[in-house]
Amino acid sequence: MSVSGKRSVTITVDGTNKALNIPLMDGTLGPPVADIRKLYGELGLFTYDPGYGATAACESKITYIDGDEGVLLYRGYPIEQLAEKSTFLEVAYLLLNGELPNAAQKAEFDQGVIRHTMLHEQLRTFYNGFRRDAHPMAVMCGVVGALSAFYHDSMDINDPEQRRISAFRLIAKVPTIAAWAHKYNIGQPFMYPRNDLGYAENFLYMFHAVPAEPYHVNPVLARAMDLIMILHADHEQNASTSTVRLAGSTGANPFACIAAGIASLWGPAHGGANEAVLKMLTEIGHVRNVPDFLSKVKDKNEHARLMGFGHRVYKNYDPRAKIMQKACHDVLGELGIKGDPLLDLAMELEKIALHDQYFIDRKLYPNVDFYSGIILKAMGFPTSMFTALFAVSRTVGWISQWGEMIEDPQQRIGRPRQIYTGAAQRDYVPIDRR
Ligand code: CMC
Repeated sequence: MSVSGKRSVTITVDGTNKALNIPLMDGTLGPPVADIRKLYGELGLFTYDPGYGATAACESKITYIDGDEGVLLYRGYPIEQLAEKSTFLEVAYLLLNGELPNAAQKAEFDQGVIRHTMLHEQLRTFYNGFRRDAHPMAVMCGVVGALSAFYHDSMDINDPEQRRISAFRLIAKVPTIAAWAHKYNIGQPFMYPRNDLGYAENFLYMFHAVPAEPYHVNPVLARAMDLIMILHADHEQNASTSTVRLAGSTGANPFACIAAGIASLWGPAHGGANEAVLKMLTEIGHVRNVPDFLSKVKDKNEHARLMGFGHRVYKNYDPRAKIMQKACHDVLGELGIKGDPLLDLAMELEKIALHDQYFIDRKLYPNVDFYSGIILKAMGFPTSMFTALFAVSRTVGWISQWGEMIEDPQQRIGRPRQIYTGAAQRDYVPIDRR
């Protein structure tokens, strides 16, 4: 990042002689950023930007999105190349460390993650506190937060080695926590991780296997799982990542911060959309019902949305959606599912929406969640697990962003301001006089 010193914008306050020259900062990519840090001190002004549509809350070197062009880069590498050529653990190394690993670094990193896959035995009993039908995201918020009570040895956030160990622990344990949330739901025994399997493979094993019989992980499905994890690994300063950063800015421990991120991811406008898409497709039921459904979506009084469509940043195709659509066909082909009615319906819905003026005017395109639910359902995941799988994949992004924030010399506690529109100061009135 550089402050050019040459370019600036000037704010003048109408009716006064007050003005401030605001320097413009340039990143490697993306629009220039007006450095308004002196705005309040010099002019006594706040800025108003609900939803942070035009606010850069931090400097970051991890992920870049060009929403107009539909570009997503992890540490400079296009998502398409990583999806085709890399693996989730390699991407995890890249996000955390900034560069792709060589063979020795990769082997050491994989080993560092793998040795932490088991959960403390006492965490098993923690699950019993949940109702049998607890949503996996509720379990994940609770159990990931509870890790804070188990790793007192690695919670000094100012020690880089302790931060590294916490990152390994989180990346390694979150799949086990998610798989066990499912096992708890269906009353099957928890399956301990198998460290001889790859990361995605081990997750599928813990999720699907039972102790009573051997379980063979289908390599095509393991690769699809790995791909889904790569696509969800990071996504710049989205709501859950910003939540992790905000929680972390107070000095809270990494397990608490990631639990906060999981809570933020849960909502249907964010990670919960994959679950909502499948629910929506099931409710629409048939292609013939699409026009009625779209009329409902366009009617402001209905408060309905085409789930899996639209994005705060992408005003073009979400590049992850394209990869996901292809993966969807590959997985259904591998599983011998021909003419899946939900996929057919999704493709028809996409086609109609992309030609509809409402969606064209608002630049609404399919996002990553539009096809992910169909692929996950075909892979045997219940709908309630979809967002938990997103959380498993995003943990590495969250922890990378958290670590970057801790190391940032500009980092301060996150503390937005407001426009206060409530009552002006007034005196207390005793109850018998109200
Ligand atoms: N269906 C119908 N209309 C929509 C949709 C949609 N999915 N998304 C946005 N719009 C309309 C919205 O009604 C508004 O119209 P108008 O200008 O007439 O008031 C306009 O488009 C702009 O919408 P917005 O709510 O201001 O946009 P936003 O940037 O605040 O919201 C979003 C982004 C992702 C929350 C929204 O597009 C949405 O709710 N999409 C559906 C949920 C979804 O698929 N979420 C997953 C996002 S990708 C994965 C992730 O980040 O977790």
